[in-house]
Amino acid sequence: MSTLLRALQSDITTLAVDAIVNAANPTLLGGGGVDGAIHRAAGPQLLEECRQLGGCEVGDAKLTQGYRLPAKAVIHTVGPIWRGGQDGEPQRLASCYRRCLEIADGAGFRSLAFPSISTGVYGYPVEPAARIAVATVSAYLQARQGATSLEEVIFCCYSAAHLACYERLLQRA
Ligand code: APR
Repeated sequence: MSTLLRALQSDITTLAVDAIVNAANPTLLGGGGVDGAIHRAAGPQLLEECRQLGGCEVGDAKLTQGYRLPAKAVIHTVGPIWRGGQDGEPQRLASCYRRCLEIADGAGFRSLAFPSISTGVYGYPVEPAARIAVATVSAYLQARQGATSLEEVIFCCYSAAHLACYERLLQRA
């Protein structure tokens, strides 16, 4: 059973999937961008659970419930801040995608949605980030063929420009 990979333009807080990924910061105590939107939509219990997690390293990810979100769960990951691309950013961004997939698999989730991690406040250029996202997710699913619970992975784009970028890459994947 192969996993469906697709891109769509949406507010990730509206997606009724098993888990949505949050582009958080190392404190896991909320912020702006998609982090702020997820916390607003999930309600205060999300922050209460996040407080128990003791933060998160760049490139790692941690799981919480989704509370008032239509998604059952949130996987919080911390992307790299873009510093020109020679400071290990690509490797750490790939690690974010891999760790979220591992956690989703470990939890037996069937559907997972990613925002474009690090491409907002953290300044990562959209195209290189999308390349890493599609390549990392494709490689993970290829390696786990038949052994993953994931039936669908969504790249949730917040703009038409981001969507066009992912659709180009997915056509070639
Ligand atoms: N749904 C989907 N995507 C969204 C949403 C949303 N509701 N809101 C923003 N985005 C997109 C942005 O357009 C961007 O492409 O998510 C991507 C990631 O942008 P940010 O949310 O700014 O995250 P990031 O660049 O990883 O920076 C993380 O920002 O909010 C703080 O606490 C967070 O300090 C951390 C930093």
